[in-house]
Amino acid sequence: MQIAHINLGEKPVVLAPMEDVTDHPFRLMCKRKGASVVYTEFISSEGLIREANKSMHKLTFVEEERPFAIQIFGGDEEVMAGATKVAVDANPDFIDINFGCPVYKVVNKNAGAACLRDIGLMERMAGMVVDAAGDYPVTVKTRLGWDDNSIRINEVALMLQSLGIKTLTVHARTRAQGYKGEARWEYLKALKNTPGLHIPIIGNGDVTTPQDAKRMFDETGVDGVMIGRAAIGNPWIFEQTKHFMSTGELLPEPNLQERLHICAEQLKASVEHHGEQYGVIMMKKHYGNYLKGIRNGKHLRIALMEYKEMNPILELLSSFTDEIPDSFAVPVVG
Ligand SMILES: Cc1cc2nc3c(=O)[nH]c(=O)nc-3n(C[C@H](O)[C@H](O)[C@H](O)COP(=O)(O)O)c2cc1C
Repeated sequence: MQIAHINLGEKPVVLAPMEDVTDHPFRLMCKRKGASVVYTEFISSEGLIREANKSMHKLTFVEEERPFAIQIFGGDEEVMAGATKVAVDANPDFIDINFGCPVYKVVNKNAGAACLRDIGLMERMAGMVVDAAGDYPVTVKTRLGWDDNSIRINEVALMLQSLGIKTLTVHARTRAQGYKGEARWEYLKALKNTPGLHIPIIGNGDVTTPQDAKRMFDETGVDGVMIGRAAIGNPWIFEQTKHFMSTGELLPEPNLQERLHICAEQLKASVEHHGEQYGVIMMKKHYGNYLKGIRNGKHLRIALMEYKEMNPILELLSSFTDEIPDSFAVPVVG
């Protein structure tokens, strides 16, 4: 699959943009474990044009992450065009527009999934971002529609293609669904069969195992698969999925030592990237999966949540090589 000139290889498996999750340290782990593309979390266009520290910091990445996309969101086309220029200055491989976020505080400002109930605004915004991006490819991530009465994804895809959008990612739920119910992959299949549509389609929603990914490719004909929640604390899902698709065999799960090692690597990168206080906090979402299935892992997770500094956490992680002893006690942190 290609996004403009960027070759992602056959059947790419990509890391979904996720707010407060897909920061540089986590993206790096996913990249090292086979993610075909990584995205920033969505970044506020208002923040970017004001060059707010928080937004600018989210633009940082390293060469090893490439192909790397910056995702932006906003409700005003002029501001989105300005933000695109700021994002392009960071030199990503492409820019992605978020037309799918269902959260009220985003939608309320005409951003994210709000554009699914105002296709005219989506069209103007996408057109202005494409113009502002110049030679940089622009892609879109969206949902099926605002609600069941407004599923017009095939039409939307053709409109975006005509504006020069290079790839469309579809989370196969409506805004009204939020994260409830099952992702409706049948709409992905219908989208892929839309006459005249030739840009690549990345399917997203409820891929939690390598088998799910293969099923999504087989059942819908999408060009790429995007994985979100199942990758949190589990960057191995990308290499496992690619291996399964090319051989039909499942790789063994990473052993405890490997999981603790990658968890520690991510923690170190997190503290380097965000500073100690925030770097430690950002890891909290990941411990659950990194330590899944470990005997007494719950106690270890509770302990990890208590610490505010990196070194005691690293010591704790390195003290377990095989399994956690029954007598393991949660440390009291002052
Ligand atoms: C914690 C969290 C944060 C998210 N943040 C974003 C975001 O910043 N941009 C975006 O396009 N989608 C965001 N999403 C949606 C995911 O990219 C993805 O579409 C959704 O989780 C469905 O995929 P999954 O079933 O593989 O998790 C977020 C999802 C989660 C769970």
